[in-house]
Amino acid sequence: MNIVDISNKRYTTKHYDKSKKIPAEQFKQLLTVLKNSPSSVNSQPWHFFIADNDAAKAKILPSILDFNHPRVADSSHTIVFCIKTPLDEAHLQNLLRQEEKDGRFPSAELKEGQDQGRRFFVEQNSKTAENLLCWESKQLYLALGQILFAAAAIGIDSTAIEGYDNVKMDEILGLKEKGLKSVVVATFGYHDVNDGNAHRPKSRLPNEQIFTTL
Ligand SMILES: Cc1cc2nc3c(=O)[nH]c(=O)nc-3n(C[C@H](O)[C@H](O)[C@H](O)COP(=O)(O)O)c2cc1C
Repeated sequence: MNIVDISNKRYTTKHYDKSKKIPAEQFKQLLTVLKNSPSSVNSQPWHFFIADNDAAKAKILPSILDFNHPRVADSSHTIVFCIKTPLDEAHLQNLLRQEEKDGRFPSAELKEGQDQGRRFFVEQNSKTAENLLCWESKQLYLALGQILFAAAAIGIDSTAIEGYDNVKMDEILGLKEKGLKSVVVATFGYHDVNDGNAHRPKSRLPNEQIFTTL
């Protein structure tokens, strides 16, 4: 399938067929896509919680707004996207150690440059707590876009979900104590035969309104 076909095929699923489960191997591929998602200065300011069974989905359901309940309850897998708050010294050192382990630094200068460059961007975006939250959230939304596209590419339906109570979600998962904060949710599975959205045409503003060639 070419990329245009994939982008046309991906749509927001409103109703899932609860009886259909994503094969473990394919879900693992989606997690790899999340892991490989780009982030500014390779900051990877994230942690993902995965609900792949009824008990786990029921646990987070009270934080999901009513109209979104079926998207979570009937999904095969639900993922809660979280940012790290704060993006602390331990995380910066952890990143640098991992990059070194992964063979990213043929010289000490490169390692030092990467560390300094990352600290510069983190500092630039840490002027206020809101500023940092916003910057980290941008990285999470990139990952969200990647996984939605990847899922469609392998025939898996999905729903991005902002319609949830983040305070409640953070309480349920004990995120504050873990130095995390939820920013968005996404669900995955296979649409129900009665999912009306599956057959609606896509609606997008025309090219001339959104693209300008300079
Ligand atoms: C960040 C984000 C949050 C969204 N939140 C919800 C949601 O809470 N519930 C829902 O049914 N759809 C949600 N959507 C789906 C959008 O309404 C949908 O992507 C948009 O209308 C375009 O339709 P399409 O995805 O079918 O192409 C969300 C989409 C994004 C990208």
